[in-house]
Amino acid sequence: MPLLHSYSFSFSVFFIIYLLSPAHAISFVSPIQKDDSTLLYSLTLFLKTPLQPTRLHLDLGASFTWVACDAGYNSSTYQHIPCFSPLCNSIGHNLSCSNCFNAPSPSCANDTCSLFPENSVTRKTAISTALTDSLALPTSDGSTQGPPILLSSYIFSCSPTSLLEGLANNVTGLVAFGRSNYSLPAQVTNTFSVPRCFALCLPRSTSDPGVSLIGSVGPYYFSPQKIDLSKSLVYTPLVLNPVGSTVVTYAGEPSDEYYINVTAINVNGKPIQINSSLLTVDENGFGGTKLSTAAPYTVLETSIYNALTEAFVNESSALNLTVTNAVKPFSVCYPAADVIVTRVGPGVPTVDLVMQSDDVFWRVFGSNSMVRIAGDGGYVWCLGFVDGGVNPRTAVVIGGHQMEDNLLQFDSDNNRFGFTSSVLLKGTTCSNFNFVS
Ligand SMILES: *[C@@H]1O[C@H](CO)[C@@H](O)[C@H](O)[C@H]1NC(C)=O
Ligand SMILES: *[C@@H]1O[C@H](CO)[C@@H](O)[C@H](O)[C@H]1NC(C)=O
Ligand SMILES: *[C@@H]1O[C@H](CO)[C@@H](O)[C@H](O)[C@H]1NC(C)=O
Ligand SMILES: *[C@@H]1O[C@H](CO)[C@@H](O)[C@H](O)[C@H]1NC(C)=O
Ligand SMILES: *[C@@H]1O[C@H](CO)[C@@H](O)[C@H](O)[C@H]1NC(C)=O
Ligand SMILES: *[C@@H]1O[C@H](CO)[C@@H](O)[C@H](O)[C@H]1NC(C)=O
Ligand SMILES: *[C@@H]1O[C@H](CO)[C@@H](O)[C@H](O)[C@H]1NC(C)=O
Ligand SMILES: *[C@@H]1O[C@H](CO)[C@@H](O)[C@H](O)[C@H]1NC(C)=O
Ligand SMILES: *[C@@H]1O[C@H](CO)[C@@H](O)[C@H](O)[C@H]1NC(C)=O
Repeated sequence: MPLLHSYSFSFSVFFIIYLLSPAHAISFVSPIQKDDSTLLYSLTLFLKTPLQPTRLHLDLGASFTWVACDAGYNSSTYQHIPCFSPLCNSIGHNLSCSNCFNAPSPSCANDTCSLFPENSVTRKTAISTALTDSLALPTSDGSTQGPPILLSSYIFSCSPTSLLEGLANNVTGLVAFGRSNYSLPAQVTNTFSVPRCFALCLPRSTSDPGVSLIGSVGPYYFSPQKIDLSKSLVYTPLVLNPVGSTVVTYAGEPSDEYYINVTAINVNGKPIQINSSLLTVDENGFGGTKLSTAAPYTVLETSIYNALTEAFVNESSALNLTVTNAVKPFSVCYPAADVIVTRVGPGVPTVDLVMQSDDVFWRVFGSNSMVRIAGDGGYVWCLGFVDGGVNPRTAVVIGGHQMEDNLLQFDSDNNRFGFTSSVLLKGTTCSNFNFVS
């Protein structure tokens, strides 16, 4: 049995299949951990029979989950998906059917449906078998823990162990949260009568987990005041990118990533100069703004990056802040001793991502805009955005650092994205979800 020291769940009731009543607003809760070396996030869920805690890289835009199973995948309930079956056609487009001449195993079968699992950080892919197996998730009514729920035929892909390279040290696969019909939220919400909606609260801390809540539109209670963060959500429509950009794509298939319509970026309330065509997704899938857990920091197309850093330096000089030597990959840094720290982090100019109207904006305070790092003359605070080059596929990729300690809701039923801006303003953090009470 793997070590369970970091999770406060009870395992004794895992074989109970609990019948859900939608009226109770039950959601499926899992802790999100942040890795201190890669700065990537992972989710712990329970897979196989008997159920094993399984730590998977959390990928917001991926289409399906994959798990390394070329060594030591031991479960009494896994099943292959037959070639040319409706399920294989639906998930894998009948694209590849494989045979195998080794001993039968999860990754080796004849006439079996195969998929192309992808590592979204390294952009590597492989061909591997599709499987179904048991998956369990703990539940919560928003404040107290309920019994775990079992999905007896969770659909995912095997992968070679080598596909894990570039992810956090001890993840054994990737869990997909994308718009596809086979992501974790889609399979959970297709199985139970719960809203097609999930929320993520990514932790700043590498020791105290954040939380993912699947199947509930709220309430989402956080301590210490039992504050319901769903009350603080502001909404913007989700935008469809008509062209997917995974390594293996299918003609005519849209992207499973989440795009939003950022129309302007303001520094201290003043719009920066942006070529607006960059902010629009074109018919080839280029341009626009997406959210990504594969990028630790927000990545901006070069002209947007330059406009942001210039405006930020200019506005900071009004606060008597003078740039010091930069620390890569950042270009604007200030001596930490010169910067006052407020309850929303370093006191620096605000950066607003403005959406469909001037009063709908995601405000990025110092705790999400600035990164504290050791420079050659002591600690510095650097503007935590990076230059994505002159011709990136996506103009604005909102990365992990900017999403932490913000509650984010992905509501497929209403095709909208909700955000709170920094929950530090509400006196809580993403590590303050009550897993047990
Ligand atoms: C697989 O799991 C079963 C049941 O837990 C156990 O009896 C068996 O020894 C395991 N096999 C391997 C190769 O670990
Ligand atoms: C895939 O296989 C299924 C089942 O045989 C069949 O109904 C479907 O038309 C096939 N789809 C394609 C795109 O070949
Ligand atoms: C697949 O079929 C071939 C030819 O019949 C056979 O040699 C092989 O053992 C089979 N593989 C598995 C995993 O059953
Ligand atoms: C993950 O790896 C770290 C160091 O490599 C180790 O301390 C920790 O216990 C591991 N966690 C799990 C859940 O295996
Ligand atoms: C999504 O998957 C479910 C089963 O998991 C299936 O019943 C449904 O038809 C699928 N929807 C689409 C749009 O493919
Ligand atoms: C994005 O916002 C702009 C400006 O309000 C609008 O013209 C455009 O139609 C919107 N795009 C989408 C996909 O909603
Ligand atoms: C704005 O960006 C588009 C797309 O990159 C480009 O074709 C156009 O020339 C740019 N316009 C200006 C004024 O720079
Ligand atoms: C620089 O800041 C000053 C004072 O806040 C403002 O008036 C000016 O427009 C800014 N210039 C640029 C290029 O942002
Ligand atoms: C900036 O420094 C000047 C001169 O030392 C001082 O008069 C001014 O009050 C300072 N402004 C701020 C915002 O700290």
